Amino acid sequence: KIKAIILAGGSGERFWPLSNSKTPKQFLKIFSNKSLIRETYERLVLKLDPKDIFVITAEKHFDLTKKELPELPEENIILEPIPRNTAPACTLATLVADKNEVVFILPADHYIPDVENFWKTIFKAVNAAKEYDGLFTLGIKPTRPETGYGYIESKNEVEENIFKVKAFREKPNVETAIDFIKKGNFYWNSGMFIWKKDVFFEEMEKYNSNIIKKLKDVDPRNIEKLRKIMPEVEKISIDYALMEKSKKVYTIKSNFSWSDVGNWLSVRELKGYSDENENVKVVEGKNIYVSSKKFVGVIGLSNIVVVETDNGILVANEEKVQKVREIVSELKEKG
Ligand code: GDD
Ligand code: MG
Repeated sequence: KIKAIILAGGSGERFWPLSNSKTPKQFLKIFSNKSLIRETYERLVLKLDPKDIFVITAEKHFDLTKKELPELPEENIILEPIPRNTAPACTLATLVADKNEVVFILPADHYIPDVENFWKTIFKAVNAAKEYDGLFTLGIKPTRPETGYGYIESKNEVEENIFKVKAFREKPNVETAIDFIKKGNFYWNSGMFIWKKDVFFEEMEKYNSNIIKKLKDVDPRNIEKLRKIMPEVEKISIDYALMEKSKKVYTIKSNFSWSDVGNWLSVRELKGYSDENENVKVVEGKNIYVSSKKFVGVIGLSNIVVVETDNGILVANEEKVQKVREIVSELKEKG
């Protein structure tokens, strides 16, 4: 028996014009007619009872969360009055577990098509978390020097595909990432964590006693109390706060396909180009990705992303899609 906790408090700016601050990435329908958080929930409910699935999200996204997950008991939605990043969110959410229970924390916004392999790996991690009293990560074989991920340096193999971790490095620069990949014993951190409640609290106590002091006796459903406390809680991700520091980190080598779907380029990578789509015509160009209900014609351009929604139209060089943030901040200024 475990508790699964979906982290769903991020803000999404990289998917404009599909997203805006009212609908961050986890609430977007990127790959199907279901939102990413809905897909995450459906993946979990294959093996878990809804009463053991929790979501921690922003107070302002309560209605959206309820609408996406109507089967989830309402008291399983934990609300944060203000975002404090993932270390406080993991701490608050872990409070719902029993002392020795294993907790599985996962992002709301990942693409994981291979459910069977995903669950095999999770069960392996759950058993290992009980046996080794460690903080378990899932290590993904890196395919490019991505700087938006954490890197896990593996040490000795304690059991088949279960490694002790030598070091955890969150979001290195590109030179360091290239170096890591060359070495061969480095993995991407998938952003999913498995640990026993008491092991997690002991490790947090060691390295983040301030966060623990403020949160350990709170009822995570007492929003009034959280309104008072949260502004004083440090804003830091679990990767920096705990994973880089703890000496009890392990990783399970994982081979299910996985993507954080960070921006339009990763969507294009997963879906492929649209040059041959029925609603697209490309003249003297190639490698166009189109997301639009309208007919789109492209002339003399290559490696372009075109996204059209009711919010606006994006036309971008695919290598520069990260800069969509600059458009979003401009829009914010204009209100
Ligand atoms: N409840 C809550 N509150 N959730 C949050 C908050 C918060 O303040 N901030 C972020 N989240 C949620 C996001 O919605 C997402 O589902 C998850 O926590 C991870 O946050 P991201 O902001 O997406 O993290 P990241 O992608 O930059 O980095 C993490 O994931 C990578 C893999 O995708 C790290 O763990 C990296 O090491 C890892 O490689
Ligand atoms: Mg992410």
